[in-house]
Amino acid sequence: MPFTVQGIPVVSRKHPVSKKYVPEGLSKRGLVKAADAALTEMTKAAKKDGVTIKLRSAYRSYATQETIFNRALKTYPSVEKAKRYNAEPGNSEHQTGLAADLWDGNTWGDAVARTKIGKWLWKHAPEYGWILRYPPDGKEEITGYIYEPWHYRYIGKEAAAAFEPNTTLTLEEYLGIDGTAENQ
Ligand code: DAL
Ligand code: ZN
Repeated sequence: MPFTVQGIPVVSRKHPVSKKYVPEGLSKRGLVKAADAALTEMTKAAKKDGVTIKLRSAYRSYATQETIFNRALKTYPSVEKAKRYNAEPGNSEHQTGLAADLWDGNTWGDAVARTKIGKWLWKHAPEYGWILRYPPDGKEEITGYIYEPWHYRYIGKEAAAAFEPNTTLTLEEYLGIDGTAENQ
């Protein structure tokens, strides 16, 4: 089971999850039930604002994350850079079925921040229980990962109510827990 604070699972470099862990009740698209319903609700609301949310990646098994991480080690310019964007197997919250990489189906990477969907999500996601998990402005020291404008994390509406539109508040700061271990 993941490390859990105030009912919220936290998976990070500091709080890995076991190789065998698979969340219960994953939906077809790889989200736990409540997260799946919240994504549907958020997608509908965005659509009304003329924004189409597409899901690029949700649940990833330990083995899948291992493949992704090993590929990143080969394709990124350095090991350090690969680790800023990619969790090692067991350290990825994609293994919880509570994380979603969201995009418009066209523009990927850092540029997501400049897309309509990237802007809409940062402002509105907390209304639907989702938060920007790896915010900018020096928060890499806390989360262990560089700004990822596409990676959203479901924590439930009650907890997410503490997250203002366009906030850089991290889950660690919200829960009052220590930041993750150094990227090394
Ligand atoms: N990109 C995030 C950190 C992950 O690999 O889980
Ligand atoms: Zn992600």
